[in-house]
This record gives sequence, C-alpha cells and structure tokens, in this order.
Amino acid sequence: MGLNWAYGSGVSAPDEKGAIDLIRRAIDIGVTFFDTADMYGPFTNEEIVGKALAPRRNDVRIATKCGIVVHGERTSYDFQRDGTPQHIREACDGSLKRLQTDVIDLYQLHRVDPNVPVEESVGAMAELVREGKVRAIGLSEADVPTLERAARVHPITAVQSEYSLFERNVEAAILPWCEAHGVTLIAYSPLGRGMLTGRLKRTDIADGDFRATLPRYQGETFDQNRRIVERIEAVAQRAGATAAQVALAWLLHKTGSTIPIPGTKRIEYLEENAGAADVHLTQADIAELDGLPRPVGDRYPEAKPTSTA
Ligand SMILES: NC(=O)c1ccc[n+]([C@@H]2O[C@H](COP(=O)([O-])OP(=O)(O)OC[C@H]3O[C@@H](n4cnc5c(N)ncnc54)[C@H](OP(=O)(O)O)[C@@H]3O)[C@@H](O)[C@H]2O)c1
Repeated sequence: MGLNWAYGSGVSAPDEKGAIDLIRRAIDIGVTFFDTADMYGPFTNEEIVGKALAPRRNDVRIATKCGIVVHGERTSYDFQRDGTPQHIREACDGSLKRLQTDVIDLYQLHRVDPNVPVEESVGAMAELVREGKVRAIGLSEADVPTLERAARVHPITAVQSEYSLFERNVEAAILPWCEAHGVTLIAYSPLGRGMLTGRLKRTDIADGDFRATLPRYQGETFDQNRRIVERIEAVAQRAGATAAQVALAWLLHKTGSTIPIPGTKRIEYLEENAGAADVHLTQADIAELDGLPRPVGDRYPEAKPTSTA
C-alpha cells in the first residue's frame, strides 16, 4: 500500500522502476506473498504489483481486495464501502487486468458493507471461485459473528486485521476463532504504520499522509506512543536485532497461524524486515513485549467510521 500511496507526501514514492525492483528483490530474498487492493492508489498499486510479478507469477501468491471505492483526490482519503455483488464482479475483472493474471490467489472483502448482507458479498466472491477467477476468499476487519455467517456461504481462508504490538484487539476473539477454524490471520500494519521501528518522527508525517488523519499519530499522542518503542528497542538490543525486526518476530513467535505483511518503499528496510524470520526471542523477551502498554488514541478517526487504508 505505502509503496505509492497513503504514506509520505504523495510524491516520495520510488519511481515505477524502483518499485518494480523492490518487489522483485523481495522475491529474490524469499518473499512469496504479496498483498494489495484496488483502492490503493486507487488502482495504481495493483498496476505496479502486476508489472513486477508478471514474469515471476508462478513463484508467488497474490492477494488483493475489493469493496471500498475512493472518491475525490487521492490524498483526501474519502472512502465508501460497496459490497454489492455487481461491484465485486466488476472489481474482480479490473484487478485481474491490472495484476496481469488470470487468477487471484486470495480475494478479500476489504470491509463489510453495512448496507449489504455479508452473505451476498461472499456469495458473489464464491461465484468468482467457481468461475476460476479467484482461488480463495478472505475478509478484512470482520468480527466473529460476521465471519461465522460468511463461512456458512463459502470457506474463509484468511482474515486480514491490524495486529502488532501497537494494536492487539484481535487477540480477544478473532485470533482464537482463526486458530480454532484453521484460518490464517494476515496481520496488517505489523510495524504500527512505522511507529514500532523507532525511526518514524512526527515531522515525517506530512500533509497528505494518511497517518495525519489517525488519532494515534497526532501531536502529543504521537509522543506518548513513541515511548512504547523505547521498550522494544531495549529488547532489540539484547536480541541483537532492530526494533522493526523484534516487532515482526514477536508476531511470528505468537502463533503459527499469523502472517505479518510489512510494507516499505526501500530495499534497505525490506531486507531488514525479512531478517526478522531469523530473530530468536526468549520467553522473557516475549513476556516483556506482551506486557507493553497499549497505545493512546483511537485507531481510526471517529468522524469517519468507514475510514480505512
Ligand atoms: N486490510 C486493511 O485494511 C489494511 C490496512 C492497512 C494496511 N494493509 C496492508 O498491510 C500492509 C502493511 O501495512 P502498512 O504499510 O500500513 O504498515 P507497516 O508495515 O506497519 O508500516 C509501514 C511503514 O513503516 C515503514 N517501515 C517499514 N519497514 C521499516 C523499517 N525496517 N525501518 C523503518 N521504517 C520502516 C515504512 O516506511 P517507507 O514507506 O518509507 O518504507 C512505512 O511508512 C500494506 O501494504 C497493506 O497491504 C491492509
């Protein structure tokens, strides 16, 4: 997502060749799973992912999402949900074209549309599976009752939710549900949108950056939340790793059914993040990380309950 949208000033993204080189470097160092969405850009993120992965299609799994429509300027973050079967069918055809593939490995409903029964949205996605356009279905940010309803229509392969040392609400019900049903939890924003790396400064969040709309990254709240990272940095020093690596390793140690999907514009960060797979945390490290304070401030702005990204 952040490769060419949402994070940075909107002009700080690598050029297209740089973005393609980054994605291909990820494959070279062992990354096999790539997540995008039609709303990222909108549309241009899928185009880049499609160009980068086309020659390596058989080496990777591609996940994308539908169900949110972007209005207005690309940095106004004005979104509306659309989970109607007609929209989902049209969105899938658009994603297939931009991704330069004839099948999407994991197709996810980005947010459940409150005006459309989830059975109808998932029913349309199940039809796409029968047509061979999609291999598996996922839901993003759905609660357990909704997941249960969706799973009665078609097997749910993955749930994508925000999960990190910066956001642990999924541990109450969604993660246990995933574990009980053999469903993968895809942990989005696993670095707390950059906060958990210790490198994000308040001044990095320019006008037009999506994080400027999120309460946890604003003013004094940012500074309060920054203190959580100092404790992660202490663990990182003991483990001979970076704070970003510890944040990702914590997710990998917590459960065998969680896939963290960090995002970056830079090869340097990509390689660092991939190195998290080799970081060993002791039981004492994990206990210390488990005990970190929860962040201050809401995840998304209250005034825009449909906000996402
Ligand atoms: N389902 C949903 O609603 C939803 C919502 C959000 C995200 N997602 C998915 O989750 C993916 C990842 O989430 P995310 O990008 O929001 O959050 P993230 O991976 O937690 O954080 C990305 C931010 O961290 C920075 N960063 C990454 N590695 C770093 C490192 N080693 N050192 C310092 N900074 C580092 C990046 O900087 P640079 O950009 O400068 O490299 C970027 O600003 C997205 O690509 C998207 O596919 C899904």
